[in-house]
Amino acid sequence: MSTPNNIALRAGELRDLLNKHNHLYYVADQPEVTDSEYDRLFKELTQIEADYPTLLTADSPTQRVGGKALDKFSQITHVLPMLSLDNVFDREELEAFDQRVRDWLNTADIQRYAAEPKLDGLAISLRYENGILIHAATRGDGEVGEDVTTNVRTISSVPLKLQGEGIPEVIEIRGEIFMPKVGFEALNVQQIAEDKKPFVNPRNAAAGSLRQLDSKITANRPLAMICYGLGEIRGMAKPETHLQAMQIIAKWGCQISPELQLVEGVEACLAYIQQIGERRQRLPYDIDGVVFKVDRFELQQRLGFVSRAPRWAIAHKFPAQQEMTVIEDIEIQVGRTGALTPVARLKPVFVGGVTVSNATLHNQDEIERKDVRVGDTVIVRRAGDVIPEVVQVVLSKRPENTHAFVMPTQCPVCQSDVERVEGNAVARCSGGLYCPAQRKEAIKHFASRKAMDVDGLGDKLVEQLVDEGLINDPADLFQLTIEPLSNLERMGEKSAINLVAALQMAKQTKFARFLYSLGIRETGEATTRSLASHFLTLDALQQADEASLIEIEDVGPIVAHHIVTFFQQSHNQEVIERLLDAGIHWPEERKIAADSALSGKTIVLTGTLEQMSRSEAKEKLLALGTKVSGSVSKKTDFVVAGRDAGSKLTKAEKLGVSVVDEATLIEWLK
Ligand code: IVH
Repeated sequence: MSTPNNIALRAGELRDLLNKHNHLYYVADQPEVTDSEYDRLFKELTQIEADYPTLLTADSPTQRVGGKALDKFSQITHVLPMLSLDNVFDREELEAFDQRVRDWLNTADIQRYAAEPKLDGLAISLRYENGILIHAATRGDGEVGEDVTTNVRTISSVPLKLQGEGIPEVIEIRGEIFMPKVGFEALNVQQIAEDKKPFVNPRNAAAGSLRQLDSKITANRPLAMICYGLGEIRGMAKPETHLQAMQIIAKWGCQISPELQLVEGVEACLAYIQQIGERRQRLPYDIDGVVFKVDRFELQQRLGFVSRAPRWAIAHKFPAQQEMTVIEDIEIQVGRTGALTPVARLKPVFVGGVTVSNATLHNQDEIERKDVRVGDTVIVRRAGDVIPEVVQVVLSKRPENTHAFVMPTQCPVCQSDVERVEGNAVARCSGGLYCPAQRKEAIKHFASRKAMDVDGLGDKLVEQLVDEGLINDPADLFQLTIEPLSNLERMGEKSAINLVAALQMAKQTKFARFLYSLGIRETGEATTRSLASHFLTLDALQQADEASLIEIEDVGPIVAHHIVTFFQQSHNQEVIERLLDAGIHWPEERKIAADSALSGKTIVLTGTLEQMSRSEAKEKLLALGTKVSGSVSKKTDFVVAGRDAGSKLTKAEKLGVSVVDEATLIEWLK
């Protein structure tokens, strides 16, 4: 049976009306109809959709009440990664940021920044296709997030359909989902009334609400969204500045920060921080600082990013919050690389929005410097998401008969000797993989989200598996079968099946992730990514010597040494072999721009460039697959000579190496 035309038209009309009133109420704060009028329109649409299910669309406001509960969230790969921000805490660090920006752009000009409060919630990317909200994803690890579309549709300030002119084919709008303070208080009153645990802070409440598999629950939580950026754009020219971009999406119906302002130079940034700081308590939502972004997109593009954070933006966090409490005990934790870390067990204290019961004491030197003892009253500090730390002891409150703390000489877990290298603050257990603590940490790291990302294999379960003798190293994970697993305490057959399936899934990975999961000392995400894109294959990397490793971005002599040593150890080789035998695999890595004419060439930059800094030029050349070297030799293919080039230019001329000027360089980079 076909749907009568007039009814289809009416449904469209109702959707548009309801979406408009929704925006007027939640975003513009200028309602034009009464609640009962809104309810009447809403009921009419619900009835039509019930009678003619084919008329139900993704942008229908009736979808805001939540839908069928999910089993789990599926994953969404971000076309453009979702970055995070570096932090600064004071004037000097902010000045240094501004200086770095100007150095990179090679300019003395005062920089213009877009300033906004840093909301304390969760980053979300909304994808609109032809104006309709198609999906919403969490940040996840920045590359892959979770599909929380059904939940996000229930949030009133998120437009289900963009309204107005010039809406492109595809646009990703990014921002923060948070719980306003008033809503948070009300939710907790309700939680307590229902005998449920209250939430610690609005951020946790927002995260908990958004990660509900049952979107009906999310629909009843007072969430809101403020947008602060763009992702992929298709079918529209990118605006020129951040401010313009925000003005455009505001016209389409997105909520942007009412505090958004342009500021010029560091002094104006500081005045903005001061101004927002004074009003912080009165703002309707929690913020933990202020974000400054280079306003012009063209400059943002030139600045690019390092690892996970853009060079063109910075978060200035408000000063950490401090509280006083008592140290009840000092315990030693043994980390993945055997490092012994003393941890203070504290009488729980509420600081910076959460209850803190542990604080790191870093190492023996720190403990001695601060003279921290069990029984001491101390000041504890927590800044944003940074690990809580002990700032100082309140000596006037020190009880009698306390003792200075001494680090053990034997590992508290495996009793192996503790070693401390001269000049290094860190004491380490010498047990290596004999030490169960190190084994556990290595496996936890291997399974973690940024590594092999084994769904459902949390820290507690790894400990249990090692304690029960079911696994000793990462490769053993892939030999696990359902039978022994399901007999474990708190396990059951269903979880066992899920775990085995998750391990199976994890076998398909990326080269960089695999390298990261091996946990080679001092090789984080950025380094393993550089290694993967430089060496392309595991064989090539395993055969590399220290000299060739040092050529890579972020790899210094110490890291190079750790890498070589790691691959020399026979037990590491054996584990790697067993992992590959178990079926771990990844798609072949490709050299970036392997077809570019410059690929593989060795280039030396010298003299002063006018249009960009040497660092910017270097990064761009590397991206084209060239090697950028610091000294001229017969192997050099080109020397790029800027103004006042000196001895390197002379040497190039002597050796007959081709010399080009900045204009040629810019041609190449195009
Ligand atoms: S911009 C590439 N602007 O802070 C820049 N982020 O610490 C990406 N955040 O993941 C972020 N308020 O969740 C930006 N006005 C704001 C923000 C903001 C809060 C969050 C965001 C991000 C995190 C980074």
